[in-house]
Amino acid sequence: MNAPSPSIQELLARRISGYALEQPFYTSPTIYQLDLEHIFYQEWLYAAPACQLAKAGSYVTMRVGAYEVVIVRARDGEIRAFHNSCRHRGSMICKAREGQVAKLVCPYHQWTYELDGKLIWANDMGPDFDMSKHGLKPVHLRNLAGLIYVCLSATPPDFEPFADLALPYLEVHDLNNAKVAHTSTIVEKANWKLVWENNRECYHCSSNHPSLCRSFSLDPEVAGVSADGSVSATLQAHFDRCEASGAPAQFRLGGSGQFRLARMPLQQKAVSYTLDGKAAVHKNLGRVALPEAGSLLMFHYPTTWSHFLPDHSLTFRVTPISATETEVATTWLVNKDAVEGLDYDLKRLTEVWISTNDEDREIVETNQQGIFSPAYVPGPYSPVQESGVTQFVDWYANWLERSQTSMRLAAE
Ligand code: FES
Ligand SMILES: [Fe+2]
Repeated sequence: MNAPSPSIQELLARRISGYALEQPFYTSPTIYQLDLEHIFYQEWLYAAPACQLAKAGSYVTMRVGAYEVVIVRARDGEIRAFHNSCRHRGSMICKAREGQVAKLVCPYHQWTYELDGKLIWANDMGPDFDMSKHGLKPVHLRNLAGLIYVCLSATPPDFEPFADLALPYLEVHDLNNAKVAHTSTIVEKANWKLVWENNRECYHCSSNHPSLCRSFSLDPEVAGVSADGSVSATLQAHFDRCEASGAPAQFRLGGSGQFRLARMPLQQKAVSYTLDGKAAVHKNLGRVALPEAGSLLMFHYPTTWSHFLPDHSLTFRVTPISATETEVATTWLVNKDAVEGLDYDLKRLTEVWISTNDEDREIVETNQQGIFSPAYVPGPYSPVQESGVTQFVDWYANWLERSQTSMRLAAE
């Protein structure tokens, strides 16, 4: 008789910190479902920049696992999120990725909802029908200095520790006075954790990212933070200069490793992610006075890493699609008064990260293909170059361990 397959707790218990995870964590639909239920359906998730919802009736939709969510700005200026499922027979209401509507009208039988979610019209429902009991179901939402986060849980975790830490760092970037210059959405054929692991190290950068390496610093003396959070004298001097100019910069990790902020220097003389290192936008977004302040790097597991520069900002959203597919949406934000063709050239603004994202897609997909092999065994992360990966995987494993699942990987 075959030995029973290991439980997920057993797999977690035999995990070695500092090593990659075993194959099922990157391939198994069962573990993917657990990731959804215990992480994505519980945690605060970055959704979109608030400026994308510029007017009353502007909406964006997002899919998280089985959930469909619509985020909409109402006439009172408030941005709210709802389950994108009609209270009649459940049809999706907004099908596009984004749009502009006067009311939320279900395409099936035209039940009509106000932008604040109240049902205001439903034909021939009889005298006893109570419209007030059939409004759209709300989803928890927070607007953090112009960044919209949503939470699918009925009892969301405390958002305040993250908000309190991030607010002063973000405020100087004035994201409420931004506009979307460009968005790009790609699908990477890899587990969402491989997308994150790749993001949390630059061990791969010199051989894979020629255009990013024109501005992004790989020197650990300049850009490195050790696992215990200590920094080099060069980096500390950079933090001090930024802070003296009014831009919070110190390395901060919070939420048991769930989020981090640090304003990291770019290559010498580079001020933005462009091929020549010069600014991409002539009208700055925000009030970061020091041109060489570098890039505020913020991550918040499980859905976002973002970069905030003196001249523009970039947000990234990571959403899993299946055990082996992940969507990465990138949004370039510029000053709302910046004029394309005059203050910035769109190709110049976007080319470095469009290439970098595609290069990352390629290496992450290749990583996934190798992990499918029965010969795959988890290898060690570099203690010098991949402490960020260890940090992510430890965070993930601790989060999943708390779920106390006794589920087994039966016959996949
Ligand atoms: S399902 Fe929406 S109106 Fe019928
Ligand atoms: Fe990369």
